[in-house]
Amino acid sequence: MDCMSMEMEDREFGDALLTWYADNRRSLPWREDPTPYHVWLSEIMLQQTRVEAVIGYYERFLAALPSVEDLAAAPEDVCLKLWEGLGYYSRVRNLHKAAVMVVSEYGGKLPRSVKDLRRLPGIGGYTAAAIASIAYGEPEPAIDGNLLRIFSRYTGYAGNIKLPAAAGEADLFYRGRMPEGKAGDFNQALMDLGAAVCMPTAQPRCGACPLRDRCDVHGARPGEELSLPVMPAKKERRIDELTVFVVRDGDRTVVRKRPAHGLLAGLYELPNAQGRLTAEEADAWLRGQGLEALRITPLPEARHIFTHREWRMQGYLVRIASPSGAPKPYILADADQIRGQYAVPSAFSAYMEYI
Ligand code: ADE
Repeated sequence: MDCMSMEMEDREFGDALLTWYADNRRSLPWREDPTPYHVWLSEIMLQQTRVEAVIGYYERFLAALPSVEDLAAAPEDVCLKLWEGLGYYSRVRNLHKAAVMVVSEYGGKLPRSVKDLRRLPGIGGYTAAAIASIAYGEPEPAIDGNLLRIFSRYTGYAGNIKLPAAAGEADLFYRGRMPEGKAGDFNQALMDLGAAVCMPTAQPRCGACPLRDRCDVHGARPGEELSLPVMPAKKERRIDELTVFVVRDGDRTVVRKRPAHGLLAGLYELPNAQGRLTAEEADAWLRGQGLEALRITPLPEARHIFTHREWRMQGYLVRIASPSGAPKPYILADADQIRGQYAVPSAFSAYMEYI
Protein backbone atom coordinates (compact mmCIF):
# COMPACT_ATOMS: atom_id res chain seq x y z
CA MET A 1 0.00 0.00 0.00
CA ASP A 2 1.36 3.46 -0.77
CA CYS A 3 1.17 6.28 1.75
CA MET A 4 -1.99 7.79 0.35
CA SER A 5 -4.06 4.61 0.33
CA MET A 6 -2.69 3.67 3.76
CA GLU A 7 -4.09 6.86 5.25
CA MET A 8 -7.35 6.24 3.48
CA GLU A 9 -7.52 2.71 4.84
CA ASP A 10 -6.82 4.05 8.36
CA ARG A 11 -9.76 6.41 8.13
CA GLU A 12 -12.09 3.93 6.46
CA PHE A 13 -11.37 1.37 9.13
CA GLY A 14 -12.51 3.69 11.93
CA ASP A 15 -15.44 5.09 9.98
CA ALA A 16 -16.77 1.70 8.94
CA LEU A 17 -16.36 0.36 12.46
CA LEU A 18 -18.11 3.29 14.16
CA THR A 19 -20.97 3.29 11.64
CA TRP A 20 -21.47 -0.40 12.35
CA TYR A 21 -21.35 0.31 16.11
CA ALA A 22 -24.00 3.02 15.88
CA ASP A 23 -26.42 0.41 14.51
CA ASN A 24 -25.29 -2.66 16.44
CA ARG A 25 -24.09 -1.40 19.79
CA ARG A 26 -25.18 -3.56 22.69
CA SER A 27 -27.12 -1.69 25.33
CA LEU A 28 -25.28 -2.52 28.56
CA PRO A 29 -25.76 -0.97 32.01
CA TRP A 30 -22.18 0.32 32.30
CA ARG A 31 -22.55 2.09 28.96
CA GLU A 32 -25.49 4.20 30.18
CA ASP A 33 -23.45 6.28 32.61
CA PRO A 34 -19.76 5.49 32.01
CA THR A 35 -18.20 7.10 35.08
CA PRO A 36 -14.68 5.92 35.91
CA TYR A 37 -16.02 3.80 38.81
CA HIS A 38 -18.71 2.18 36.64
CA VAL A 39 -16.27 1.42 33.83
CA TRP A 40 -13.67 0.10 36.26
CA LEU A 41 -16.11 -2.20 38.05
CA SER A 42 -17.56 -3.52 34.77
CA GLU A 43 -14.13 -4.15 33.26
CA ILE A 44 -12.96 -6.09 36.30
CA MET A 45 -16.15 -8.17 36.31
CA LEU A 46 -15.88 -8.80 32.56
CA GLN A 47 -12.40 -10.32 32.79
CA GLN A 48 -12.83 -14.00 31.82
CA THR A 49 -16.58 -13.65 32.34
CA ARG A 50 -19.40 -13.40 29.81
CA VAL A 51 -21.40 -10.18 29.53
CA GLU A 52 -24.70 -11.97 30.32
CA ALA A 53 -23.24 -13.42 33.52
CA VAL A 54 -21.95 -10.02 34.62
CA ILE A 55 -25.03 -7.77 34.23
CA GLY A 56 -26.88 -8.94 37.36
CA TYR A 57 -23.74 -8.90 39.50
CA TYR A 58 -22.86 -5.43 38.26
CA GLU A 59 -26.25 -4.00 39.19
CA ARG A 60 -26.31 -5.67 42.59
CA PHE A 61 -22.77 -4.57 43.41
CA LEU A 62 -23.49 -0.94 42.53
CA ALA A 63 -26.76 -0.95 44.46
CA ALA A 64 -24.82 -2.08 47.56
CA LEU A 65 -21.68 0.01 46.98
CA PRO A 66 -22.60 2.96 44.75
CA SER A 67 -19.30 4.85 45.01
CA VAL A 68 -15.56 4.26 45.31
CA GLU A 69 -15.82 5.58 48.88
CA ASP A 70 -18.50 3.01 49.73
CA LEU A 71 -16.34 0.24 48.27
CA ALA A 72 -13.25 1.40 50.17
CA ALA A 73 -15.18 1.48 53.45
CA ALA A 74 -16.81 -1.96 53.04
CA PRO A 75 -15.41 -5.03 54.85
CA GLU A 76 -13.72 -7.49 52.49
CA ASP A 77 -16.26 -10.21 53.38
CA VAL A 78 -19.08 -7.98 52.09
CA CYS A 79 -17.24 -7.51 48.79
CA LEU A 80 -16.58 -11.26 48.48
CA LYS A 81 -20.26 -11.98 49.15
CA LEU A 82 -21.28 -9.61 46.34
CA TRP A 83 -18.87 -11.49 44.07
CA GLU A 84 -20.03 -14.95 45.15
CA GLY A 85 -20.40 -17.20 42.09
CA LEU A 86 -18.50 -14.92 39.67
CA GLY A 87 -15.19 -16.68 40.25
CA TYR A 88 -11.60 -15.40 40.06
CA TYR A 89 -12.01 -13.84 43.48
CA SER A 90 -8.62 -12.13 43.54
CA ARG A 91 -10.33 -9.63 41.23
CA VAL A 92 -12.59 -8.37 43.99
CA ARG A 93 -9.89 -8.44 46.65
CA ASN A 94 -7.71 -6.28 44.38
CA LEU A 95 -10.65 -4.03 43.51
CA HIS A 96 -11.22 -3.42 47.19
CA LYS A 97 -7.52 -2.72 47.87
CA ALA A 98 -7.39 -0.37 44.90
CA ALA A 99 -10.49 1.52 46.10
CA VAL A 100 -8.77 2.15 49.44
CA MET A 101 -5.78 3.58 47.50
CA VAL A 102 -7.99 5.69 45.22
CA VAL A 103 -9.62 7.26 48.27
CA SER A 104 -6.38 7.81 50.20
CA GLU A 105 -4.14 8.87 47.30
CA TYR A 106 -6.48 10.41 44.73
CA GLY A 107 -9.32 11.83 46.84
CA GLY A 108 -11.72 9.17 45.55
CA LYS A 109 -11.23 10.02 41.85
CA LEU A 110 -9.74 7.31 39.71
CA PRO A 111 -6.64 8.58 37.87
CA ARG A 112 -6.87 9.26 34.17
CA SER A 113 -3.56 8.11 32.71
CA VAL A 114 -2.74 4.52 31.85
CA LYS A 115 0.50 4.89 33.80
CA ASP A 116 -1.23 5.88 37.07
CA LEU A 117 -4.10 3.43 36.59
CA ARG A 118 -1.64 0.58 36.20
CA ARG A 119 -0.19 1.25 39.64
CA LEU A 120 -3.47 0.13 41.20
CA PRO A 121 -3.91 -3.53 42.24
CA GLY A 122 -5.72 -5.59 39.64
CA ILE A 123 -5.38 -3.03 36.84
CA GLY A 124 -3.17 -4.24 34.01
CA GLY A 125 -2.55 -2.79 30.57
CA TYR A 126 -5.92 -3.80 29.12
CA THR A 127 -8.04 -2.56 32.03
CA ALA A 128 -6.08 0.70 32.32
CA ALA A 129 -6.62 1.40 28.61
CA ALA A 130 -10.32 0.49 28.84
CA ILE A 131 -10.89 2.90 31.75
CA ALA A 132 -8.76 5.66 30.21
CA SER A 133 -10.54 5.42 26.84
CA ILE A 134 -14.15 4.69 27.85
CA ALA A 135 -14.39 6.91 30.94
CA TYR A 136 -11.91 9.67 30.01
CA GLY A 137 -11.68 9.55 26.20
CA GLU A 138 -7.91 8.98 26.20
CA PRO A 139 -6.71 7.56 22.85
CA GLU A 140 -5.60 4.17 24.19
CA PRO A 141 -6.41 0.90 22.42
CA ALA A 142 -7.69 -1.65 24.97
CA ILE A 143 -6.03 -4.79 23.67
CA ASP A 144 -8.08 -7.78 24.82
CA GLY A 145 -8.74 -11.12 23.14
CA ASN A 146 -11.28 -9.54 20.78
CA LEU A 147 -8.91 -6.85 19.55
CA LEU A 148 -6.10 -9.37 19.15
CA ARG A 149 -8.28 -11.75 17.15
CA ILE A 150 -9.65 -9.04 14.85
CA PHE A 151 -6.14 -7.65 14.33
CA SER A 152 -4.77 -11.09 13.51
CA ARG A 153 -7.51 -11.96 11.00
CA TYR A 154 -7.63 -8.51 9.43
CA THR A 155 -3.87 -8.23 8.88
CA GLY A 156 -3.04 -11.92 8.50
CA TYR A 157 -0.80 -11.78 11.58
CA ALA A 158 0.30 -15.39 12.12
CA GLY A 159 2.55 -15.10 15.18
CA ASN A 160 1.53 -16.57 18.54
CA ILE A 161 -1.24 -14.21 19.65
CA LYS A 162 -0.54 -14.75 23.37
CA LEU A 163 2.99 -13.33 23.21
CA PRO A 164 3.64 -9.69 24.16
CA ALA A 165 4.94 -9.06 20.62
CA ALA A 166 1.42 -9.60 19.25
CA ALA A 167 -0.09 -7.11 21.71
CA GLY A 168 2.59 -4.58 20.72
CA GLU A 169 1.79 -4.99 17.01
CA ALA A 170 -1.94 -4.78 17.64
CA ASP A 171 -1.47 -1.64 19.75
CA LEU A 172 0.38 0.09 16.90
CA PHE A 173 -2.19 -1.07 14.37
CA TYR A 174 -5.19 0.27 16.33
CA ARG A 175 -3.48 3.44 17.56
CA GLY A 176 -3.05 4.49 13.94
CA ARG A 177 -6.69 3.87 13.12
CA MET A 178 -8.44 5.35 16.14
CA PRO A 179 -10.65 8.31 15.15
CA GLU A 180 -10.02 11.41 17.23
CA GLY A 181 -12.28 11.82 20.25
CA LYS A 182 -13.85 8.38 19.78
CA ALA A 183 -11.52 6.11 21.70
CA GLY A 184 -14.18 4.60 23.97
CA ASP A 185 -16.59 3.84 21.14
CA PHE A 186 -13.75 2.52 18.98
CA ASN A 187 -12.62 0.04 21.62
CA GLN A 188 -16.15 -1.03 22.53
CA ALA A 189 -17.10 -1.38 18.85
CA LEU A 190 -14.23 -3.85 18.46
CA MET A 191 -15.36 -5.73 21.57
CA ASP A 192 -18.91 -6.00 20.20
CA LEU A 193 -17.64 -6.96 16.75
CA GLY A 194 -15.53 -9.68 18.36
CA ALA A 195 -18.51 -10.96 20.35
CA ALA A 196 -21.13 -10.91 17.57
CA VAL A 197 -19.33 -11.13 14.22
CA CYS A 198 -15.65 -12.02 14.40
CA MET A 199 -16.21 -14.75 16.97
CA PRO A 200 -13.44 -16.86 18.50
CA THR A 201 -14.72 -20.40 17.96
CA ALA A 202 -17.93 -20.33 15.93
CA GLN A 203 -17.52 -19.61 12.21
CA PRO A 204 -17.32 -15.80 11.95
CA ARG A 205 -20.22 -13.97 10.30
CA CYS A 206 -18.02 -12.28 7.70
CA GLY A 207 -21.02 -11.26 5.60
CA ALA A 208 -22.09 -8.93 8.43
CA CYS A 209 -18.60 -7.49 9.03
CA PRO A 210 -17.97 -3.81 8.25
CA LEU A 211 -14.26 -4.59 7.77
CA ARG A 212 -14.56 -7.56 5.39
CA ASP A 213 -13.43 -5.77 2.21
CA ARG A 214 -9.90 -5.42 3.48
CA CYS A 215 -9.76 -8.39 5.84
CA ASP A 216 -6.79 -10.60 5.06
CA VAL A 217 -8.04 -13.96 6.29
CA HIS A 218 -11.49 -13.44 4.76
CA GLY A 219 -9.99 -12.47 1.41
CA ALA A 220 -7.15 -15.00 1.36
CA ARG A 221 -8.72 -18.03 3.03
CA PRO A 222 -12.51 -17.88 2.82
CA GLY A 223 -14.01 -20.61 4.99
CA GLU A 224 -10.79 -20.86 7.00
CA GLU A 225 -11.19 -17.73 9.07
CA LEU A 226 -10.79 -19.81 12.23
CA SER A 227 -7.18 -20.60 11.25
CA LEU A 228 -6.25 -17.23 12.78
CA PRO A 229 -5.27 -16.20 15.38
CA VAL A 230 -2.54 -18.73 16.10
CA MET A 231 -2.87 -19.88 19.70
CA PRO A 232 -0.42 -21.81 21.85
CA ALA A 233 -1.53 -25.31 22.96
CA LYS A 234 -3.70 -25.20 26.09
CA LYS A 235 -2.11 -26.21 29.39
CA GLU A 236 -3.53 -29.42 30.82
CA ARG A 237 -5.74 -29.11 33.87
CA ARG A 238 -4.46 -30.55 37.11
CA ILE A 239 -6.94 -32.94 38.69
CA ASP A 240 -7.43 -32.82 42.47
CA GLU A 241 -9.35 -35.49 44.35
CA LEU A 242 -11.18 -34.13 47.37
CA THR A 243 -13.57 -35.25 50.07
CA VAL A 244 -16.14 -32.63 51.09
CA PHE A 245 -18.17 -32.77 54.29
CA VAL A 246 -21.58 -31.33 55.01
CA VAL A 247 -21.27 -31.45 58.79
CA ARG A 248 -24.50 -30.66 60.61
CA ASP A 249 -25.54 -30.55 64.24
CA GLY A 250 -29.24 -30.38 63.39
CA ASP A 251 -29.96 -26.91 62.02
CA ARG A 252 -26.48 -25.60 61.62
CA THR A 253 -23.63 -26.46 59.23
CA VAL A 254 -19.88 -26.25 59.74
CA VAL A 255 -17.95 -23.83 57.50
CA ARG A 256 -14.51 -22.28 57.67
CA LYS A 257 -12.67 -19.38 56.07
CA ARG A 258 -10.00 -20.33 53.54
CA PRO A 259 -6.46 -18.97 53.95
CA ALA A 260 -5.73 -15.40 52.83
CA HIS A 261 -3.56 -16.60 49.93
CA GLY A 262 -3.91 -19.13 47.15
CA LEU A 263 -6.93 -20.59 45.35
CA LEU A 264 -10.26 -19.09 46.49
CA ALA A 265 -8.43 -17.05 49.14
CA GLY A 266 -10.58 -15.58 51.90
CA LEU A 267 -13.77 -17.36 50.85
CA TYR A 268 -15.76 -19.72 53.04
CA GLU A 269 -15.92 -23.45 52.43
CA LEU A 270 -17.27 -26.72 53.71
CA PRO A 271 -14.67 -28.78 55.57
CA ASN A 272 -12.74 -30.88 53.07
CA ALA A 273 -9.79 -33.25 52.95
CA GLN A 274 -7.37 -34.17 50.19
CA GLY A 275 -8.03 -37.47 48.45
CA ARG A 276 -11.15 -39.59 48.24
CA LEU A 277 -11.75 -40.94 51.73
CA THR A 278 -13.79 -44.03 52.57
CA ALA A 279 -16.41 -43.55 55.29
CA GLU A 280 -13.96 -45.02 57.83
CA GLU A 281 -11.13 -42.73 56.77
CA ALA A 282 -13.58 -39.83 56.81
CA ASP A 283 -14.55 -40.66 60.38
CA ALA A 284 -10.89 -40.64 61.46
CA TRP A 285 -10.16 -37.41 59.60
CA LEU A 286 -13.14 -35.67 61.17
CA ARG A 287 -12.09 -36.81 64.65
CA GLY A 288 -8.65 -35.32 63.95
CA GLN A 289 -10.41 -32.00 63.28
CA GLY A 290 -12.29 -32.20 66.57
CA LEU A 291 -15.58 -33.14 64.88
CA GLU A 292 -17.09 -36.34 66.39
CA ALA A 293 -19.40 -37.96 63.83
CA LEU A 294 -22.58 -39.66 65.06
CA ARG A 295 -23.48 -40.77 61.54
CA ILE A 296 -21.81 -40.54 58.11
CA THR A 297 -23.80 -40.88 54.87
CA PRO A 298 -22.24 -40.76 51.39
CA LEU A 299 -23.44 -38.00 49.04
CA PRO A 300 -23.20 -38.04 45.22
CA GLU A 301 -19.87 -37.30 43.59
CA ALA A 302 -19.40 -33.86 42.06
CA ARG A 303 -16.85 -32.04 39.97
CA HIS A 304 -15.89 -28.46 39.44
CA ILE A 305 -13.73 -27.11 36.64
CA PHE A 306 -11.43 -24.15 37.23
CA THR A 307 -9.17 -22.69 34.54
CA HIS A 308 -6.12 -24.81 35.35
CA ARG A 309 -7.58 -27.27 37.81
CA GLU A 310 -10.42 -29.70 38.23
CA TRP A 311 -11.83 -30.85 41.54
CA ARG A 312 -13.33 -34.35 41.69
CA MET A 313 -15.22 -34.58 44.91
CA GLN A 314 -16.69 -37.30 47.09
CA GLY A 315 -19.20 -35.92 49.54
CA TYR A 316 -20.41 -37.06 52.96
CA LEU A 317 -23.27 -35.83 55.05
CA VAL A 318 -22.12 -35.95 58.66
CA ARG A 319 -24.23 -35.63 61.76
CA ILE A 320 -22.46 -34.39 64.87
CA ALA A 321 -23.83 -33.89 68.36
CA SER A 322 -24.80 -30.30 69.06
CA PRO A 323 -21.75 -28.69 70.63
CA SER A 324 -21.84 -25.23 72.13
CA GLY A 325 -19.51 -24.13 69.33
CA ALA A 326 -17.37 -25.63 66.58
CA PRO A 327 -13.67 -26.26 67.18
CA LYS A 328 -11.42 -23.60 65.65
CA PRO A 329 -11.10 -22.69 62.80
CA TYR A 330 -14.60 -23.99 62.12
CA ILE A 331 -17.77 -21.94 62.41
CA LEU A 332 -21.28 -23.33 62.97
CA ALA A 333 -23.82 -21.28 61.06
CA ASP A 334 -27.43 -21.72 60.01
CA ALA A 335 -28.43 -21.68 56.35
CA ASP A 336 -29.70 -18.08 56.39
CA GLN A 337 -26.47 -16.85 57.91
CA ILE A 338 -24.41 -18.72 55.33
CA ARG A 339 -26.55 -17.49 52.43
CA GLY A 340 -26.60 -13.92 53.68
CA GLN A 341 -23.13 -13.43 55.01
CA TYR A 342 -20.51 -15.95 53.93
CA ALA A 343 -19.26 -16.12 50.33
CA VAL A 344 -19.01 -19.79 49.35
CA PRO A 345 -17.54 -20.44 45.87
CA SER A 346 -19.55 -22.37 43.26
CA ALA A 347 -17.07 -25.23 43.52
CA PHE A 348 -19.10 -26.35 46.57
CA SER A 349 -22.55 -25.71 45.13
CA ALA A 350 -23.35 -29.41 44.58
CA TYR A 351 -23.11 -29.85 48.37
CA MET A 352 -24.60 -26.55 49.50
CA GLU A 353 -28.10 -27.87 48.83
CA TYR A 354 -27.66 -30.12 51.89
CA ILE A 355 -27.04 -27.31 54.36
N1 ADE B 1 -15.87 -6.85 27.52
C1 ADE B 1 -15.01 -6.19 28.28
N2 ADE B 1 -15.31 -4.88 28.35
C2 ADE B 1 -16.42 -4.71 27.62
C3 ADE B 1 -17.24 -3.60 27.30
N3 ADE B 1 -16.95 -2.40 27.77
N4 ADE B 1 -18.28 -3.82 26.50
C4 ADE B 1 -18.55 -5.04 26.04
N5 ADE B 1 -17.83 -6.12 26.30
C5 ADE B 1 -16.78 -5.97 27.08
